[in-house]
Amino acid sequence: MNKVLVVDDDKVLQGSVRQALEYHHFLVDVADNGKEAVAAVYKEKYDLVVMDVNMPEMDGIQALVEIKKHDPSIIVIILTAFSNVQDAVKAVKEGAYNYLEKPISSDNLVALIKRALKARSLVETTAFSAPMLSLGDGQNDGKFVGESNVMKKVFNIISKLAKVNTPVLIRGESGTGKELVAKAIHFNGPRKDEKFVTLNCGAVPENLIESELFGHEKGAFTGASDRKIGKFQYADGGTLFLDEIGDISPAMQVKLLRVLQEKKFTPIGSNREVSSDVRIIAASHKPFEKMIKDGSFREDLFYRLNVLPVYLPPLRERTSDIPHLSNYYLNFFNSHHGLNIRGISPEAMKIFESYSWPGNIRELRNIIEHCFIMESSDQIEVSSLPSTMFKAKSSNEKDDRSESLIDIEEIQNSVLNESDKSGDSTKYQVTVSMKSPDGTKLDFQIAKDEFEKEFIIQALKVNKGKINQTALNANIPKKTLLRKIEKYEINPKTYY
Ligand SMILES: Nc1ncnc2c1ncn2[C@@H]1O[C@H](COP(=O)(O)OP(=O)(O)OP(=O)(O)O)[C@@H](O)[C@H]1O
Ligand SMILES: [Mg+2]
Repeated sequence: MNKVLVVDDDKVLQGSVRQALEYHHFLVDVADNGKEAVAAVYKEKYDLVVMDVNMPEMDGIQALVEIKKHDPSIIVIILTAFSNVQDAVKAVKEGAYNYLEKPISSDNLVALIKRALKARSLVETTAFSAPMLSLGDGQNDGKFVGESNVMKKVFNIISKLAKVNTPVLIRGESGTGKELVAKAIHFNGPRKDEKFVTLNCGAVPENLIESELFGHEKGAFTGASDRKIGKFQYADGGTLFLDEIGDISPAMQVKLLRVLQEKKFTPIGSNREVSSDVRIIAASHKPFEKMIKDGSFREDLFYRLNVLPVYLPPLRERTSDIPHLSNYYLNFFNSHHGLNIRGISPEAMKIFESYSWPGNIRELRNIIEHCFIMESSDQIEVSSLPSTMFKAKSSNEKDDRSESLIDIEEIQNSVLNESDKSGDSTKYQVTVSMKSPDGTKLDFQIAKDEFEKEFIIQALKVNKGKINQTALNANIPKKTLLRKIEKYEINPKTYY
């Protein structure tokens, strides 16, 4: 149920709005002025605030600014007297969703609230059901997860960018969600019913990119057996997402700049200019500032694209999002695999929060999926985390990490030591005979099998017959371990 805060010093109006909203199944709280409203949003989570402008203590505009500072996702609708429309316009500039003039019709108010909530849910979901989204990876159900302040700001920027037509440049390391942002901008704006077309500039060979972008006439070059429409024409009316824009050649940069300026282009081999109305969203993880300095990226094109920049910070810089993202993907994979893993153990979560996530959210998603395969209990334990998560600390990355971060090695060792309290050594000693059973000749296959069997028995002994722990500590994929146990007819229970 959506929660609404109604703010008005006029008790009669406050009461009638409350009644109308409760009738439509909203949960309603009231406040008498801006100051009370700000205090209320700090205390409770509201989806929406309906607020008067002229009030004692703190007026509606000031309160709006404070509320948005605290939580940009709250929708604010301003109620205003006819004479105060200028205030209402100011409020919209400050981030109010819309305003209604008094006297208020409850039908109009409810309709506006429903529209606002729908618009917000679209910012939160990138509508993976939309047809062109089949171009996407389908790797989540379209939800944007992020509770950190920096991500709340990004969501706020997305909702603003969605309304305008200016080019957008999305920057961020690999896996931070650049494509998801591009789709969110498109599917929340006026072009949402038009095409969202992607071109990965880094993936198309240099000699084909011009034809991909602008198309070609039949016979324009060797191999051009048919006329082909380019992405600019195909996406007409919609959005063209130029992924990895930092990878295009200087020659293509010039051509792209021209289309951005003139909204016209010429297909290869044609003598006819074609106009196209396409919104450009570009993305890259490249260091443009450095590329501009060394001449590999045109400054004019950069500024043309960078009118409205979006920067997605790496996951290690927004660790407060990690538990939310992990839970989100846990639910996602539970429903996809029909499983019921109920959570992540506190020890494993500590490792999640201190790991550097070089592959960002994509890596987190992959690791959780990996854990789903490895885990045999009903929660994700340290033992089912991939070994790469433990190796990171010993690499050169060590020095880049903040002192306050938890020591992964220490956690891992403490977990490993749990299994070691009996005094067993984690060093597996395996002796293998170098001869075949009849003692006459050397046989690699036999020696290898013997070694493998002996090694697995030793590893199971040390890890008290626990499969996940053995797989992790002896660095054998769990599936391989199970296959070998079956092959060599070992019974792990003997080592419990
Ligand atoms: N905020 C988020 N909430 C939930 N899932 C996310 C979020 N951001 C990204 N993802 C998921 O992470 C994966 C990577 O995202 P995306 O492909 O958009 O990253 P990218 O920045 O384009 O990466 P690359 O530079 O490697 O192309 C996708 O499966 C996407 O659904
Ligand atoms: Mg991408």
